[in-house]
Amino acid sequence: MRILVLGGDGYLGWPTAMHLSAHAHEVAVADNYLRRRLCREEQVNFLYEVPDLDERAALWQSVSGHRIAVHIGDLSQWDFVAKVFEKFGPQAIVHYAEQPAAPYSMLHRKAATLTLHNNLSVTANVIFAVREFCPDAHIVKLGTMGEYGTPNIDIEEGWLEVEHKGRQHKFLYPRQAGSLYHTTKIMDTDLLWFYVRTWALRVTDLMQGPVYGLFTDETEKNERLLPFFNYDEIFGTVLNRFVVQAVAGYPLTVYGKGGQTRGYLNIKDTLNCVRLSVENPADHGELRIFNQFTETFSVNDLAARVQETGSELGLNVDIQHVENPRLEAEAHYYNPRHTGLLDLGLSPHYLSEDVLVEMMEYVIKYKDQIKHDQIYRKVKWA
Ligand SMILES: NC(=O)c1ccc[n+]([C@@H]2O[C@H](COP(=O)([O-])OP(=O)(O)OC[C@H]3O[C@@H](n4cnc5c(N)ncnc54)[C@H](O)[C@@H]3O)[C@@H](O)[C@H]2O)c1
Repeated sequence: MRILVLGGDGYLGWPTAMHLSAHAHEVAVADNYLRRRLCREEQVNFLYEVPDLDERAALWQSVSGHRIAVHIGDLSQWDFVAKVFEKFGPQAIVHYAEQPAAPYSMLHRKAATLTLHNNLSVTANVIFAVREFCPDAHIVKLGTMGEYGTPNIDIEEGWLEVEHKGRQHKFLYPRQAGSLYHTTKIMDTDLLWFYVRTWALRVTDLMQGPVYGLFTDETEKNERLLPFFNYDEIFGTVLNRFVVQAVAGYPLTVYGKGGQTRGYLNIKDTLNCVRLSVENPADHGELRIFNQFTETFSVNDLAARVQETGSELGLNVDIQHVENPRLEAEAHYYNPRHTGLLDLGLSPHYLSEDVLVEMMEYVIKYKDQIKHDQIYRKVKWA
């Protein structure tokens, strides 16, 4: 299939592009390096230097023989979107191109406005471009488990059958996010659902949990193909941050009580979930929703796992409960369903000690470059 990966420079976008390309799909990527720019502005570094997309695509072609076409531009701008869609004529679109950090969206008014405008504009442009240039194409959109929040009932896979005064109706599962970023994802879902009903678009919305890891089958060919890796509080995801903190000798910063529970997945599973969704498309007029994670952990669980593995590698890992800068429940019920992707054929890579050892051993190579002052910045929600 011809697959357009939007946000193809990103933590997930680049590994996804290689993965789809390795599975014999024709892949093009688009990105405007927004993430790199925001990291520079907030003075946070990737753990190691990462080549730009042209260099990555050339390297991928030299090791795999497959070409990934690169388009650099801003997907919130219609002219650029129209040009890319018209030229490439995608059969599937993987839409990652958003500002994806909850703490960034809560930094200040400018960051909030950027998140809101960027995320909704890109999603709207994707919808309009599919309608205009490729109405049969399937949109695979990355949402987040954070759209649901932490309700005191089981979380279903996207939809809820409601019985009210003797009648029944199926609704989108109620959403109540814990940050502005997550709220933009809810708005994306609403936009997509509206146009699925109105224009019979084909959409899969993947409610993904926090991702960890950096190695995929394709990165084995050359370490310069690795995705970029943030370990700061603004852009880093929790397990990646804890691994770096363990290596740096910086106590693992558990926010508040640490009972915050979420569904996590290995980056390898992200790629498989997205590929399975693309290869088994939704129907016209269908908004298909999958909960994309493989296992749930509390923050305390993650800290304990990292401490245990760190100790086995001879690291001295402390755990510190720090003031929680976020507004969130620190102990709560959490039981989300996640069978859709397993039914499509996903075989999960669970969080094992081997996985943690492999990550830590790699991070140890860059120990001297870890900047302690980037780890805990206390971006406050209120
Ligand atoms: N990483 C996670 O743990 C996680 C969890 C749940 C959901 N998600 C979602 O998955 C997607 C990818 O996440 P990620 O961690 O790879 O984020 P990322 O920031 O690394 O990747 C997003 C990419 O999109 C690009 N982009 C953003 N706005 C753009 C625009 N207007 N024009 C062109 N390019 C643009 C950025 O430059 C970046 O390279 C996001 O939508 C995110 O919300 C990620």
